[in-house]
Amino acid sequence: MSGARTFAIDATRLDGWLRELARFSDAPAPAVERVLYTPTDLAGRAFVRGLAESLGLAVRVDAVGNTFFRLEGREPALAAVATGSHLDAIPNAGRFDGTVGVLGGLAALEAIRGAGITPRRAIEVIAFTSEEPTRFGLGCVGSRLMSGAIAPEAVRALRDAAGRPFEEVRADAGFVGALEEVRLPEGHYHAFVELHVEQGPVLEREGVAIGVVTAIAAPASYVLEIEGEGGHAGAVLMPDRKDALCAAAEIILAVEDAARTSGSDDTVATVGVCRVFPGAINGIAARVHLELDLRDTSLAAREEAFAVMAAAIERIAAARRVRVSRRTINEDPPAQADAAIVAAVEASAAAHGLTSRRMPSRAYHDALFMARIAPMGMVFVPSARGVSHRPDEYTAPEDVARGAAVLAGTLLKLAEDGDG
Ligand code: GLV
Ligand code: MN
Ligand code: MN
Repeated sequence: MSGARTFAIDATRLDGWLRELARFSDAPAPAVERVLYTPTDLAGRAFVRGLAESLGLAVRVDAVGNTFFRLEGREPALAAVATGSHLDAIPNAGRFDGTVGVLGGLAALEAIRGAGITPRRAIEVIAFTSEEPTRFGLGCVGSRLMSGAIAPEAVRALRDAAGRPFEEVRADAGFVGALEEVRLPEGHYHAFVELHVEQGPVLEREGVAIGVVTAIAAPASYVLEIEGEGGHAGAVLMPDRKDALCAAAEIILAVEDAARTSGSDDTVATVGVCRVFPGAINGIAARVHLELDLRDTSLAAREEAFAVMAAAIERIAAARRVRVSRRTINEDPPAQADAAIVAAVEASAAAHGLTSRRMPSRAYHDALFMARIAPMGMVFVPSARGVSHRPDEYTAPEDVARGAAVLAGTLLKLAEDGDG
């Protein structure tokens, strides 16, 4: 069988699945919110599981809740080809981030089977647990555990904002077994290919149907705790203050400046969380908690920008007589896509008569971690106006279907590969 095989995906049906899944939300439509291990997350998972079962796929759930939907191959002993993405959604999100990769993966398997094909290798769609960092502050928990990128002890040490341990919340959600069991060895999968919305403007702007990801940017994130001195907003005179919020304001701007002036177009830095204690209009801020997300496609450029930020933070802390402590949440290296998978995605796009272009992924994905245990690739479809992580995130049904068709062709090509 060759990569030239093409598939027709029913765009309206796949869009219907996406719309139905979006109804499992803790935010009013069109916003979507499905946070890890909440009843809504569990209900969304159950919906997708029901769908997969109705397509005749075998289901396995691991200890952390990663869920595997398998289309068996002609040679079940061979390493399977995997695809998939995530079902969780940050507060005030849209309905395409992650879901397109899971439901598009199911549509791809349905199309392969519908064409009367049993691939040589099995193909699995994985719905990864907690790609988003919303609940425990760390993204890609499921794929990190699966690839060995994080130790189970480190996951057990996580606490949510209410102080609840990861293990307690996981058990309440019904996921049991040791986290150690989630790990899969290198070679377990023959290849991993994730379908995702671009979340940026390039494909739409250039009128290109398919993005072929060559590398995933290196993300890092940190917590900064700024400790000043609280006091009465009326009584403490300005020269005597150690206002933690004023220091935080300078730090936020210094972070932005370091990213803007890094010399790399791909450096991005975001302070997305700022919590002020005590948070009273007539109280000087005693403490501020900041969370910083820093990324670049080049690890060296990211590290350089980080060094500039760290020096600026030290200067600001000294000048404002506050203490700043820093905790690293993650510092992940970038991942390169596998050349053969890039070629397979390009061949599938061409066979479907679709334009494609190579591009980096500036967002991180479960594919970043799956690259540690399997050759990795990604397929992007256009995001209207480049918008994501917002309720108005939108990818046209035809664009989603094109991505699923290209995915199906790519998966089938890889599933017919020889070797172990
Ligand atoms: C994933 O959602 C990211 O923040 O890149
Ligand atoms: Mn996301
Ligand atoms: Mn995503």
